[in-house]
Amino acid sequence: MDWDDTDVDDELTEADLSGAELSHLQRLTDADADGDERAVEAALRPKTLDEVVGQVRVRDQLGLVLEAARRRGRAPDHVLLSGPPGLGKTTLAMIIASEMSTPLRLTSGPAITHAGDLAAILSGLNEGDVLFIDEIHRMSRPAEELLYMAMEDFRVDVIIGKGPGATAIPIEIPPFTLVGATTRAGLLPGPLRDRFGFTAHLEFYEPHELDQIVHRSAGLLGVHLTAEGSSEIAGRSRGTPRIANRLLRRVRDYAQVRADGVLTLPVAQAALELFEVDESGLDRLDRAVLDVLCRRFGGGPVGISTLAVAVGEERETVEEVAEPFLVRTGLLARTPRGRVATPAAWHHLGLTPPAIPTIDSTLFDEV
Ligand SMILES: Nc1ncnc2c1ncn2[C@@H]1O[C@H](COP(=O)(O)OP(=O)(O)OP(=O)(O)O)[C@@H](O)[C@H]1O
Ligand SMILES: [Mg+2]
Repeated sequence: MDWDDTDVDDELTEADLSGAELSHLQRLTDADADGDERAVEAALRPKTLDEVVGQVRVRDQLGLVLEAARRRGRAPDHVLLSGPPGLGKTTLAMIIASEMSTPLRLTSGPAITHAGDLAAILSGLNEGDVLFIDEIHRMSRPAEELLYMAMEDFRVDVIIGKGPGATAIPIEIPPFTLVGATTRAGLLPGPLRDRFGFTAHLEFYEPHELDQIVHRSAGLLGVHLTAEGSSEIAGRSRGTPRIANRLLRRVRDYAQVRADGVLTLPVAQAALELFEVDESGLDRLDRAVLDVLCRRFGGGPVGISTLAVAVGEERETVEEVAEPFLVRTGLLARTPRGRVATPAAWHHLGLTPPAIPTIDSTLFDEV
């Protein structure tokens, strides 16, 4: 199973998404014909704030910010969306643009290697456009500095020439709304964070919200499922809509091939066992992290880089994909000296925690 779903949106770079308003059904039919799972994911995205399940506070606050901007006839303030992968940042960015009936321009931090790349994007904006920068914490420093000025003064200085003869030519840019998304708000420099008028932190979803999402997606996919089947999928989705949708698709596959197509509790259980998603929703990577931590390093503390190498993954994947959920469920602790397995982690693996606890409660400060 993939840990790190790259977003469908890559192909939408610079695209005018207001043109992409095909009905859910049309998009789904096309997607299924192509067998393109990414397109299915895109089709399952809520298209308006009202369709968004959960995140009640963020939805309320954002709704207010957008409504006020609409009434003033102005572009809304810049918005920062932060939170772990798969909770709806890209979805909300698209919704902001569609609620404002403006095109969404899309790029990402790693794609902006030079300040010039960003200057080109900014100078091509029209009034009221929404510019979405995904993974904004991965933008280069010079680009970041250019962005400060653009966000505040709607102006960029383009440097012509090199060395002592270089001159800065100021270019006005029309008022736009920047929507930044990050899985690591802590990595954003203060000056950048402060220039966002509204910051929304997305939280993991409650099981009943995921249940609602599974029902909604099943409806869009034309899948028959029972209440028990749905709540089994919801309960193993690690608080994450993207995972809920992905598990739903795998259980649907199983139901079609090995059962009569209906997603019941036993079908969901058998399918999720086949795809190695356990009762708590831990997948192979999560268990690998705990396993390495307990069996190879005696419970820790272990530095994140060592841990990542030991499970054969990128450090970012372990930090952003596996850890937030493991920490949230109390299986892993981040300490200044490294990652530590809690007694619950040992029990989860069917092991006995060491007699002398490796965990010193003074270590539990977040790093
Ligand atoms: N509130 C929600 N209600 C219903 N479905 C949702 C919600 N949030 C997200 N989803 C579903 O989850 C999928 C993943 O969401 P999205 O791509 O917006 O996550 P993300 O936060 O941008 O993740 P990443 O950090 O990996 O880019 C979407 O395709 C959408 O179908
Ligand atoms: Mg995204």
